[in-house]
Amino acid sequence: MSHPSDKAGENDIRHDRVRQILFYHSSSKHYLHRYADGPGRLDWVNQPAPFRTYVGAPAIDLPLLADAIVAPYSDLYVPGAIPARRPALDTLAILFELSLGLSAWKEHQGSRWALRCNPSSGNLHPTEGYAIVPPLSGSEAGVYHYVSRDHRLERRCTFTAATAAALTLCLPSQSFLIGLSSIHWREAWKYGVRAFRYCQHDAGHAMAACRYAAAALGWSARLLDAPGDAEVAALLGLDRDADFAAVHALDREHPDALLVVGPLSSAAGDLNLPPVQGGDWAGKPNVLSREHVPWELIDLAASATWKPATDSEPVFAPQPLTPLATLPPTQTAPTPASSIIRQRRSAVDFDGQTSLDAAALYHMLEHLLPRPGVPPWDLLPWRPHLHAGLFIHRVRGLSPGLYFLERDPAVHEPMQAACRATFLWRRPALCPDDLDLYLLAEGDLRETARTVSCHQDIAADGVFSLGMIAEFGGVIRARGPWSYRRLFWEAGVLGHVLYLEAEAAGIRATGIGCYFDDAMHEVLGLGGDRFQSLYHFTVGGPVEDRRLQTLPPYFHLDGHRGG
Ligand SMILES: Cc1cc2nc3c(=O)[nH]c(=O)nc-3n(C[C@H](O)[C@H](O)[C@H](O)COP(=O)(O)O)c2cc1C
Repeated sequence: MSHPSDKAGENDIRHDRVRQILFYHSSSKHYLHRYADGPGRLDWVNQPAPFRTYVGAPAIDLPLLADAIVAPYSDLYVPGAIPARRPALDTLAILFELSLGLSAWKEHQGSRWALRCNPSSGNLHPTEGYAIVPPLSGSEAGVYHYVSRDHRLERRCTFTAATAAALTLCLPSQSFLIGLSSIHWREAWKYGVRAFRYCQHDAGHAMAACRYAAAALGWSARLLDAPGDAEVAALLGLDRDADFAAVHALDREHPDALLVVGPLSSAAGDLNLPPVQGGDWAGKPNVLSREHVPWELIDLAASATWKPATDSEPVFAPQPLTPLATLPPTQTAPTPASSIIRQRRSAVDFDGQTSLDAAALYHMLEHLLPRPGVPPWDLLPWRPHLHAGLFIHRVRGLSPGLYFLERDPAVHEPMQAACRATFLWRRPALCPDDLDLYLLAEGDLRETARTVSCHQDIAADGVFSLGMIAEFGGVIRARGPWSYRRLFWEAGVLGHVLYLEAEAAGIRATGIGCYFDDAMHEVLGLGGDRFQSLYHFTVGGPVEDRRLQTLPPYFHLDGHRGG
């Protein structure tokens, strides 16, 4: 039994951590008159290596098989439409190829850089991916690190027979785990204090990318809510200090999340993971930078949001809504999911002309609502905490202006009470009943949108842009300081839907991490920390940068990996 003073001590620590993460949050805001602290200039010599490898770990080259996935993108959203494939090394290969794998190389003036299916702020890719598998056809039970550059798994740990058996017992039939971690330094190198936020956005995008890739294989994926960061670190081998002895502390990975992945019927609920005991560990991490710059506030944010093991919360069960239409209204031939996923790119410029029908906008926004068994939202066990303040510029059938999308009706009254009293809160005429979209104020808001998104033209020249408005302070105080990271993960998932939906509609999107936080709050009239804007996004008709040459994602691999 715990002593009452232990409880008081725990409450004090929690209270301190809440204070620390709220301090980090306000310190990492960009203000109109002052950007959050950054490095000032970029130290190119010490740019962190974008690919982690574990030198000396046995490597398994994976086949490139995603071309064989021909299921239409629209079928991803129809439960049961895609027959479940058998989890084995070849399907694991497809899962990685379509989630964290490369999508292209770009080349310009002698430099070449890789793009991936998952986006990343500044293309710096702090997220690392792992598979933790029971005995699977084609591979031994163990922990595998994924190297996207080589489409290769590195076997960090071969489980003992006892651990393999315990894992098999705790996992739903035919399932396995995907683990994610972040190297904060990769983002901090360029973005300084704000980088911790970007790492969380990127982790959210990576989770969504895994969920979509799982759907393309007829599987589901669910974030495990209960494990603490220490457990995740132990399972991924991130706490093995001796293995990391030769790298700087900032080259180490911070544990993020575990997803249980497998055939649809078997992935629900949380799990009691067995401890990894013994096992045969191999591999030492590569050095990412020769020199590092510590960012105290990032360390503060990481320690304040370190997640303890918690009880499993009841999994959120969304209301059944009208099923998503199988084809967008303008689309004639179904595009394979594997094409949409791999063609996803960030627009660098919009044409300032392309418009969308209101029906097409509604179709896109409908994908932001959770439905039972529909990706990606069945990935997250909690009810939606993020909503959207939209700047609609060019939608045929809708007045330009400021709109608000509620992803959970429970937010309506508090949000209305917190916003400007002059807002209209008027539902657009032909808006589907399921979609709680409100016109707040009519007007040409292109200048406002550009200004709040750090003066970036892409926020004004597209069809619409938005700020993701999170239920913030109350959630962090009630649930715990670690939920700060989860709010950003939800933002990343939301952004990922917009990226794919924009591609499916024949246009393009871009995540916007650079925005003036309080300027966005001012547009809505929000004060205090009950609501905060955690991520911006923009969607429009792209203008290609024709100076760049594009190369296929795995042109550089020797030999044929077609399986
Ligand atoms: C969290 C996040 C924040 C981003 N912020 C911006 C931004 O403020 N401005 C911008 O032009 N692009 C932004 N991007 C887009 C990235 O630069 C882009 O994802 C990266 O260069 C990789 O390119 P790709 O998305 O085409 O794969 C952001 C992306 C993410 C995931």
